Amino acid sequence: MQTYREACGASSAVERELGYDGWGRRLRPIRTRTYSRSRGAADSRSAKIDDLVAMTTTINRKIIPMGSRTRKAVLVVHIVSVGAWIGIDVMVGVLVLAGWFSDDPGIQGLAYQALGTFAVVPMLTAAVAGLASGILLGFGTRFGLLRYWWVAVKLAMNVVLCVLILVALRPGMADVVEYGRSLAAGAEPQLDVSTLFFPPAVSLTALTVATVLAVAKPWGRIRSADARK
Ligand code: HEM
Repeated sequence: MQTYREACGASSAVERELGYDGWGRRLRPIRTRTYSRSRGAADSRSAKIDDLVAMTTTINRKIIPMGSRTRKAVLVVHIVSVGAWIGIDVMVGVLVLAGWFSDDPGIQGLAYQALGTFAVVPMLTAAVAGLASGILLGFGTRFGLLRYWWVAVKLAMNVVLCVLILVALRPGMADVVEYGRSLAAGAEPQLDVSTLFFPPAVSLTALTVATVLAVAKPWGRIRSADARK
């Protein structure tokens, strides 16, 4: 028996060609908005297309697509690492403030000793874990390492912060512990601890910016020299 559509002279192939689906509804064109503008159904469609493109050009774009489960697992590690890093920064800020504002030299001394003894290693571990998992996510997803500005900026920030922990924070920690011990023992040691305010302030600001970048994914793609020609 002839269907209504066949009676009207329509076949699904012809309809698709004309921009209608098999039921006579207008097919909406797939929009290819960039990921940075908004995240909705159109984005997930364009994300899938991008993933396919990335998979077919793996070597060119240095992307090794991860399976969905692996990506989720690495993303969890990434978020937990940077979350831990932010938490450690908050702890460092609290210890610095306790050292400054407490009236009790015992508490001041304890705060500086804790700061000098416990801050650097966990902070560096979290920072390196965030960097490593971020790099894995960059290589393993369509975002790449240097394809999107928001990823490249986060990469630069993460590397700079790791270097600052090693070069600017770590070397002074032995003196801070000594200063704390002397304070707790009732002495009046001389050390300029005012600069201890900067590590947590700078790091927390940078990590907040990095989190905003990760969520908002602004600025779109980095145009390569090839694309500009
Ligand atoms: C500086 C510290 C960093 C912070 C605070 C941070 C934060 C975050 C957060 C909160 C997300 C989840 C966003 C979402 O799912 O909507 C995320 C995802 C991501 N991050 Fe980071 N990140 C940092 C460093 C890095 C680095 C160094 C890289 C790579 C070089 C990187 C690459 C990525 C990528 C590619 C994703 C998306 C993963 C996906 O959705 O599949 N991140 N980041």
